[in-house]
Amino acid sequence: MKKILVINGPNLNMLGIREPDIYGKQDYEALCEYIDECAKKLDIAVDIFQSNHEGDLVDEIQAAYGEYDGIIINPAAYTHTSVAILDALKAVGIPAVEVHLSDVSKREDFRRISYAGLACEEHFIGLGFEGYKKALEWFVK
Ligand code: DQA
Repeated sequence: MKKILVINGPNLNMLGIREPDIYGKQDYEALCEYIDECAKKLDIAVDIFQSNHEGDLVDEIQAAYGEYDGIIINPAAYTHTSVAILDALKAVGIPAVEVHLSDVSKREDFRRISYAGLACEEHFIGLGFEGYKKALEWFVK
């Protein structure tokens, strides 16, 4: 059975409250339940981690070394700023897929840059919760 780690960055724990026009009305718990359900159907073992702190995200990526077959990452705002997260993904060399709920290509210019995305083999952007499902499916293909 494949072991996949899902990593979610800052403010994703505020889903349902934060900018519902952009991120939807469902809360973070609903996202985690959705990911768990999708993983079960695909026969994937999944762990989900969320933090608002850049260093904690780096620590979690490092700790995944030798433990997981893949990483699904939505670094949230750190997508557009964090070379540390990019370097951590490169350091562990675990196949990674980038997910964003919203279509970052159609928002502010600064959201068009993705550092973490440079270390990711696939990207599912602007599909809402379904992006995580597509990312899980990518790992079984
Ligand atoms: C996000 C997009 C980012 O630009 C933003 O900072 C987020 C969420 C998304 O999932 O659409 O916090 O990663």
